[in-house]
Amino acid sequence: MGPDNTSDGYLKKQWKTQNGKRYLFKNGTKPFKQQPFNEVIASRLMERLGIGHVDYMIQWQDGEPFSVCEDFVNRDTELVTAWRLMSDVKKPNNKSQYQHCVNCFCEIGITDIKQKLNEMLVVDFLIANEDRHFNNFGAIRDAETLKYLKFAPIFDNGTAFGYDLLAGSIKAGVNIVCKPFKEKHTEQIKLVDSFEWISFEKLRLFNNEIYQILAETNGLIDKERADAIVYAYNKRVDYLEKLALSQVSVIDNTKDDIEEDVAETYNN
Ligand SMILES: Nc1ncnc2c1ncn2[C@@H]1O[C@H](COP(=O)(O)OP(=O)(O)OP(=O)(O)O)[C@@H](O)[C@H]1O
Ligand SMILES: [Mg+2]
Repeated sequence: MGPDNTSDGYLKKQWKTQNGKRYLFKNGTKPFKQQPFNEVIASRLMERLGIGHVDYMIQWQDGEPFSVCEDFVNRDTELVTAWRLMSDVKKPNNKSQYQHCVNCFCEIGITDIKQKLNEMLVVDFLIANEDRHFNNFGAIRDAETLKYLKFAPIFDNGTAFGYDLLAGSIKAGVNIVCKPFKEKHTEQIKLVDSFEWISFEKLRLFNNEIYQILAETNGLIDKERADAIVYAYNKRVDYLEKLALSQVSVIDNTKDDIEEDVAETYNN
């Protein structure tokens, strides 16, 4: 029994009812089956950063790991993906995909969209997400009145952390696909217009949690692979922090600030 009869997507998955609640079970791909563990890591990371997300945990079935999450819609609500919202309105040629996306969400009353995208893009950068296509985020609306309620909690974060690469390539951080706005994560992250909400201390402490989650993979992910994942994550945290600092210093050095300071000294 599912919220839709064909849950779209690439991975083997199924809806199951346990203790009266409906859950989506998703498998990973061979040989590492890393995606379910990535889902857990990403949801813990978002929990630490205070970002609205779907919570994933692991359940083992017949020796295979599945990520399990609760249904985030109910009989009164439905998900409308960004793709749907954005294809309802023709994109003006002089607008970027990002600007078009922001406009389409503002149009339906989701006015905090820039911050929601900031959060999603920062998470995608940190986890090296390769699959944030326009059907992997969206808005929740009332299925009866069709009134839009909020930006949907962030879901489907498994195609990340070099899930299909060998440890050496994960460490090198090359060939990471980026979606939905830019081709490279280092370009896409520049769309983020505010970083003050990020605690870099929390991001650094998160290392341990990644190791803890990856220690429970029954040998699917070995020590070398876990080290590579954490190493690459740390490099991305460093990169992000440098970018955040450079943005702050640009704001701090505005011409107006200096003039005001000089004027005050004269007055004294
Ligand atoms: N917790 C949930 N509650 C309700 N609907 C969900 C939930 N998780 C996923 N869905 C729906 O099922 C679809 C497929 O799920 P998901 O995106 O997680 O799988 P996927 O196979 O990784 O998809 P793809 O790789 O194509 O992006 C989603 O696009 C969404 O419409
Ligand atoms: Mg998906």
